[in-house]
Amino acid sequence: MARPKIALIGAGQIGGTLAHLAALKELGDVVLFDIADGTPQGKALDIAESGPVEGFDATLKGTTDYADIAGADVCIVTAGVPRKPGMSRDDLLGINLKVMKAVGEGIRDNAPDAFVICITNPLDAMVWALQQYSGLPKEKVVGMAGVLDSARFRHFLSVEFDVSMKDVTAFVLGGHGDTMVPLTRYSTVAGIPLPDLVKMGWTTQDKLDAIVQRTRDGGAEIVGLLKTGSAFYAPAASAIEMAEAYLKDQKRLLPCAAWVDGALGLKGMYVGVPTIIGDKGIERIVDINLTKDEQAMFDHSVEAVRGLVEACKGIDSNLG
Ligand code: APR
Repeated sequence: MARPKIALIGAGQIGGTLAHLAALKELGDVVLFDIADGTPQGKALDIAESGPVEGFDATLKGTTDYADIAGADVCIVTAGVPRKPGMSRDDLLGINLKVMKAVGEGIRDNAPDAFVICITNPLDAMVWALQQYSGLPKEKVVGMAGVLDSARFRHFLSVEFDVSMKDVTAFVLGGHGDTMVPLTRYSTVAGIPLPDLVKMGWTTQDKLDAIVQRTRDGGAEIVGLLKTGSAFYAPAASAIEMAEAYLKDQKRLLPCAAWVDGALGLKGMYVGVPTIIGDKGIERIVDINLTKDEQAMFDHSVEAVRGLVEACKGIDSNLG
């Protein structure tokens, strides 16, 4: 049976890391696409040359021609610009919206059966625009944010509790921005919810609040340290987890920016919610119960996403 084909649209920091991880995990053959001639070809060749050392079987091709993504099973989109210190993700909206138009049309014309994972920021608005420009089914176009935000939360919690991160589960929902909603009640160490761990004296409410805030600021913390761009190792690892769930029909329950119409009281919008990913794409939205406070935080985040979507409509009146 032929190997799956994974097209990476954008061969920058995240794109290159995605290609490396996809090859190391032998998820399939990789095509790296970018408009900057030389970058995708150079990265593809460099990673291919690590194959004999690492012992993976995967072909890697770099290209500036959309025809080369033809028939891709998965497309992961990182094309666009990342933020610099002092910028919010929302500051990227105008420029990255134009990129989503070009990318959406490229995917529509060459890989209409692909499962599409968008990483470009501001995430929730960009995945919405990408679905519109590509015209692909909504369950096949999804945004990577919740897995990354939850991974950051899990990392901070495992350090605070001095336990293996394997035993820490966490859920971060809502938009991928300052208003994201880390849900402490649904986050656990081996099934013990965080509020119980506070009662057990494992940490204090103040420390937990600080970790929640650090999670919200997780992207900005990295931008502040790197100064020349934004995070790429953890974002790439997170998107690869989603791609693997689709390619292997794993039915993973992962928080993703998905099209929600009905669940969690929402009517037709993209935002971070718990989803099941299998070989049909987003197979289910998990309609969890929220307390009054959690619902208020989620609603606030949803409003922020709506504002960005309206701003996109203001820039391109063809979007609706
Ligand atoms: N089509 C294809 N590639 C494009 C296009 C386009 N229209 N416009 C820009 N690119 C390419 C750039 O040439 C660059 O190689 O997208 C790549 C982006 O790479 P980086 O600048 O290294 O950015 P990266 O860190 O990978 O982040 C990409 O993901 O997390 C988000 O906020 C981040 O929006 C940003 C995106």
